[in-house]
Amino acid sequence: MTAPLIDPFHRPISYLRVSVTDRCDFRCVYCMSENMSFLPKKELLTLEELDRMCSTFVNLGVEKLRITGGEPLVRRDIMTFFRAMTRHLDSGALKELTLTTNGSQLAKYAGDLAQAGVRRVNVSLDTLDEQKFTDITRWGRLPQVLKGIDAAQDAGMRVKLNAVAVKGFNEDELFTLTEWCAARDLDLTWIEVMPMGGDMGSDYRLDQYWKLTDLRARLAQQYTLTDLSESSGGPARYVRLEETGQKIGFITPLSHNFCESCNRVRMTCTGELFMCLGQEDKADLRAALRNHPEDDLALEEAIRAAIRLKPKGHDFDYSRQTVGGTMSRHMSHTGG
Ligand code: GTP
Ligand code: 5AD
Ligand code: SF4
Repeated sequence: MTAPLIDPFHRPISYLRVSVTDRCDFRCVYCMSENMSFLPKKELLTLEELDRMCSTFVNLGVEKLRITGGEPLVRRDIMTFFRAMTRHLDSGALKELTLTTNGSQLAKYAGDLAQAGVRRVNVSLDTLDEQKFTDITRWGRLPQVLKGIDAAQDAGMRVKLNAVAVKGFNEDELFTLTEWCAARDLDLTWIEVMPMGGDMGSDYRLDQYWKLTDLRARLAQQYTLTDLSESSGGPARYVRLEETGQKIGFITPLSHNFCESCNRVRMTCTGELFMCLGQEDKADLRAALRNHPEDDLALEEAIRAAIRLKPKGHDFDYSRQTVGGTMSRHMSHTGG
């Protein structure tokens, strides 16, 4: 038996998020700047290298694999990679293969994803207003994403929407979004905006902070909320709205830190392993992989060495009326 990955704070690491491209067909304001420069394609891990990396993590006890970007579905031939990962689901080693997407390419790929064993997909959607959607994504078109969501559901996948809670932007849509999701049997998770990269500038980011404790209190004025103990293996905590039966999640890095139970690390498309979303600590797994083409043990040791450096948590903080713990790295670099 291979020993599982355990970090210095005794947290078992069983969840790997893999960004397969830094590119995206949107430019969400909290995620990217308007003029991004992207990595030359030759810097990227090939699909075969991604396979070897992920398979090594699965060997080391990773049970949940989430594919992210940028936008993962704009990576050329990405379905080949999803199909390759199916073997780990079939063997029982991997419990979940999933992705976080902006939904723009879902209409095209939903059937193939379902066939590869993806049962659940998270789609980022902050507003149901076409103009506001284009404002926040800069380049996105809402109808295309809605078609993608329909296609995913038609293919039999469970869809969860991720909405970043932005003060003065989607506050007025709290109930519209809730009802829309209830009518379509979609789960919905709200996320507090984190101070990473982007154009918004730190003071602006503070203005945009809509605390999920406030959002939750507003929801409770109209619905009966029951806390659920279940977890999807990610950072969200869930409630059920008794009147509609739907599940609402809250991801609260600012108002309620959840680092204590962190179970994940994230790999970028060039094979950098970031040990925490909110810290700079990283390890170069690409070198370990390329320097030892035949030797997975060397790669395993590089992964174990990286996990031994996992920090305790992020330092994001808005509580002093200034923004603390800001990361210059854009969210798109690691895919959230
Ligand atoms: P589920 O499997 O559905 O629970 O998904 P998930 O929440 O693990 O993944 P998703 O990609 O939907 O992430 C939603 C948001 O949570 C993104 O904005 C991520 O940046 C944020 N998030 C995920 N993991 C972490 C984390 O370790 N720390 C912080 N601060 N935020 C995280
Ligand atoms: N703060 C919080 N969430 C963010 N996301 C992107 N940038 C930020 C940010 N600064 C979310 C996206 C997507 C997920 C990958 O990360 O909306 O759902
Ligand atoms: Fe693209 Fe997602 Fe970032 Fe928006 S949040 S720019 S859709 S990677």
